[in-house]
Amino acid sequence: MKLADQLQSADWKKEKHAPVIEAPEKVKAGEAFEIKVGLGKEIAHPNTTEHHISWISVFFKPKGSNFTHQVGHFEFWGHGESTSGPNKGPVYANPEVTVSLSLNESGTLFAMALCNIHGLWESSREVEVE
Ligand SMILES: [Fe+2]
Repeated sequence: MKLADQLQSADWKKEKHAPVIEAPEKVKAGEAFEIKVGLGKEIAHPNTTEHHISWISVFFKPKGSNFTHQVGHFEFWGHGESTSGPNKGPVYANPEVTVSLSLNESGTLFAMALCNIHGLWESSREVEVE
């Protein structure tokens, strides 16, 4: 059994766990651009002490390469925890991040998200370097 076999994927418009990667289709080599990665753009994922997105990781795999590079890992810690009990806390982190990066080669961006009770989910998006 492989961990990769446990990654689930789906159309983010129909599945609230599938990460959404918002990125330009084409970028200039070496020039910084922003991507936004999050969940719940179409169907909101719960954000409670008991059920939430714990983290999102972003990866990049150059076209034709065998190797994947990690761009960043983003953890979300506030989910309504409180001394008064679950969901009574003052802060909820939304599972969404904006990242600035630059590429020297065309390839594929991958996003992986962990729901604390529904496991690992992934999505991908091609980016072409001009
Ligand atoms: Fe979930």
